[in-house]
Amino acid sequence: MLGNQPIGVFDSGYGGLTVFKSIVKLLPQYDYLYLGDSGRAPYGNRSFNIIHRYTWECVQAMFKMGCPLVILACNTASAKALRTIQQQDLNNQDATKRVLGVIRPTAEVIGNYTTTKEIGILGTKGTIQSESYPLEISKFFPDVKVHQQSCPLWVPLIENGEYDKPGADYFVHQYLDQILAKSSKIDTLLLACTHYPVLHEKIKAYLPNYIRVVSQGDIVAHSLGDYLHRHPEMEKTLTKGAKHQFFTTTDDTSDFDHHATLFFSEPVKSIFLPVK
Ligand code: DGL
Repeated sequence: MLGNQPIGVFDSGYGGLTVFKSIVKLLPQYDYLYLGDSGRAPYGNRSFNIIHRYTWECVQAMFKMGCPLVILACNTASAKALRTIQQQDLNNQDATKRVLGVIRPTAEVIGNYTTTKEIGILGTKGTIQSESYPLEISKFFPDVKVHQQSCPLWVPLIENGEYDKPGADYFVHQYLDQILAKSSKIDTLLLACTHYPVLHEKIKAYLPNYIRVVSQGDIVAHSLGDYLHRHPEMEKTLTKGAKHQFFTTTDDTSDFDHHATLFFSEPVKSIFLPVK
């Protein structure tokens, strides 16, 4: 008999719950384990080495708790840590485990949203500086021009509960003005950070109607469904009890639960997991 073998969903904090929500909606039958490294978040401005180390420590903790497959539902971790984990760490440890990110599945489809063939990517400094999106998108849509803008104040605004206050408008408008100034042909804006869907309505309200705002949750969920369909050897190892467990690396679980409920749209009760 199999023990609990959930799908692991990892994020630097609770933002990944916007992606987790879409995954659970599309694939409700599986067991899931969510880990948010909120004790060490935000990752957005951290170095490559630190993001890789933190992410790999968390992924290993999720493997130990039974996850055969972990989704990095964090753009910054996907941009800075995924390649090293896939190409080095997994081979050195357990080649039967799998770790997937959010950038490639998004790059595979984002070109289908634009008619002008110019899109804008909004993300953390780490995600934007990595150039991961322009590189990946060029593989699938070589004719699409990609403009980028980092929005370093959006995650702190959201984490401090200021995102729906009038003061937030100034910073929301500032980064949108900056990316729109890069080209008048942008007709699609990708929210390439798990936190940003919380700002979706505010962003949409500020933009002209012809600009489409795309969040990643549904894209990542469909890509995971497709992956499991193509990999029955992985799919059959996953337990299907529709059980959800939440872990956080912050000892203040009530703070995590409070924020998590906003991102997941359902009450969350987390357990403290010290990771090193
Ligand atoms: N979850 C991260 C992402 O999607 C953003 C939050 C952070 O900076 O830790 O990029």
